[in-house]
Amino acid sequence: MKEKNVNLYLRILNYTRPYKWRIIVSLVASMGVASTDAILAKLVQPFIDRLIVAGDHGLAQWVPVMVIGLAVLKGSSMYVQRYFVQTSGQLILMDLRNDLFRHLVNLSMRFYSRNSVGVLMSRILNDVNVMQSVVSDVLVAAMRDSVTLIALIGVAFYTDWQMAGIALLVLPAVAAPVVLIGRKIKKYSGRGQEAMGGLTSVLEQTFSGIKVIKSFSAEQREDNNFRSANKSYYNFMRKIFKYDAGSSPIIEVISAFGIAGVLWYGLDRALSGSMTQGQLFSVLAAILLMYAPLKRLTRINNQLQQAFAASERVFSVLDEPINVQDKPGALHVGRLNGAVTFNEVNFAYVEEPVLKDFSLQVSPGEIIALVGPSGAGKSTLIGLMSRFYDPQSGTIFIDGHDLRDLSQESLRNNLALVDQETFLFNDTLRNNISYGCPSASEDMIFDAARLAYADEFILSMPNGYDTEIGNRGLNISGGQRQRICIARAILKDAPILLLDEATSALDTESEAKVQMALGNLMHGRTTFVVAHRLSTVMHADKIVVVDQGQICQIGKHHELLAQGGLYQKLYNMQFQDES
Ligand SMILES: Nc1ncnc2c1ncn2[C@@H]1O[C@H](COP(=O)(O)OP(=O)(O)OP(=O)(O)O)[C@@H](O)[C@H]1O
Ligand SMILES: [Mg+2]
Repeated sequence: MKEKNVNLYLRILNYTRPYKWRIIVSLVASMGVASTDAILAKLVQPFIDRLIVAGDHGLAQWVPVMVIGLAVLKGSSMYVQRYFVQTSGQLILMDLRNDLFRHLVNLSMRFYSRNSVGVLMSRILNDVNVMQSVVSDVLVAAMRDSVTLIALIGVAFYTDWQMAGIALLVLPAVAAPVVLIGRKIKKYSGRGQEAMGGLTSVLEQTFSGIKVIKSFSAEQREDNNFRSANKSYYNFMRKIFKYDAGSSPIIEVISAFGIAGVLWYGLDRALSGSMTQGQLFSVLAAILLMYAPLKRLTRINNQLQQAFAASERVFSVLDEPINVQDKPGALHVGRLNGAVTFNEVNFAYVEEPVLKDFSLQVSPGEIIALVGPSGAGKSTLIGLMSRFYDPQSGTIFIDGHDLRDLSQESLRNNLALVDQETFLFNDTLRNNISYGCPSASEDMIFDAARLAYADEFILSMPNGYDTEIGNRGLNISGGQRQRICIARAILKDAPILLLDEATSALDTESEAKVQMALGNLMHGRTTFVVAHRLSTVMHADKIVVVDQGQICQIGKHHELLAQGGLYQKLYNMQFQDES
């Protein structure tokens, strides 16, 4: 095994530690299984020499008892062994999935903008399942078969070391193909798992984009995509089977050489009388019994290699560094006042700078409207305040604290975000509103809904607040979805409000109402509002015009209008109808 495999194995082994007692019980039971085979091989000698050849009647009565006794011993050992090793296998997988999930939810947004959801799901489901073979099947079989093998080798050597030696001469010849096949299998298994990730990715994309697919009549194209991803998985599996199926026949042929050698040598000695027939058959039985576990062990190696390939993928996710995380001793703050300062912030998602030396000072309770062309960096500013990303240079302060010094939890407790992408959970309306404060009372939930002008439509739904909304809230309209998101933010009662196009999906009338509600809400809170309507912008204490990641104008509506420039252009294009 290469060093890398050894490390992988040690890492997997680490997961077995909490279940060591189950595994030890199983190991002891596997010795029970192994010993019955060895006892059987050993008993062949008295059976032939004393019973068949010498005709000992007293012994004959014991034979049926022995047969049943051995079967019961083997059967009960097998039961205990399988049960304990398989439950430990599942427990280990459960721990792995839990660790993966916890790590994944803690990874930063940067990680999520790089990785497809389908591929990540495949890691937790498919890759961990492939590892199942290593922790359950392989543990069962490897333990049982290696113990059996050792016991049988012992019996063979004890009975006749020379013949046993001849039989084992072939072992080194077995090693080369086993290693080679294992390597191929690991390689193709890794690619197969990658293809499986591609497959789940196609699924995820298809199901979440089904409306677009239908509206562009792209069903056939997606069908082809799926078929080709599916075929690519099959191709890798076929390669694995090609090598896996080859391993047993190779061992079979190589072991035939060993058996032929033993027979050639043993028959000669038995015929010349230097060895009893019983001894000959006893050694032969041990040797023949030995090849079966040997063959199985090589198959196990194949499975093990597949599991290694999968665990490499699983551990690569676990090793993914968490970019945005709490400092040791991060500050847990209570309710903040909401003074926000951007100090020469530079930020890029990839390489292209998105914010350039961005500086801005906001006093507690101020309402800041962020306006600017699409792609200017408005949502990015909101994202940085939420610490979804850390800037490459420069600092963002809230109440004088560098965001990176605060615990993420206490920071986010002070923020209420209504995002440009409205997301609702597949749950009741009530639970969606109270998502940020699960302990909120009925009345608090109703109040928040009322303020967001959501209660009217909620009460008209068949089950009111207990109406289950479908996946991602697709069963309600865009404007309704947005009002639920606003209610969710209102309920949170945070000192800093981040509203990213929060009312963009509302008609003018309900927007005016929600605006009024938000107006009440904004009172006494620092608010950043990315807005596309003049009414919102006019109420702001400061309008910040962002262009290409920089502030190009800042001030009140009439001041900016008087300056001309980008604001006036935006005003002419977007706002004028309203005024
Ligand atoms: N996850 C991401 N990865 C890479 N680039 C991104 C990502 N999100 C946004 N960008 C880029 O960053 C720039 C600023 O995007 P941002 O979303 O902040 O714009 P915006 O001002 O909110 O625009 P809009 O008014 O259209 O919402 C854009 O050029 C965009 O392409
Ligand atoms: Mg945006």
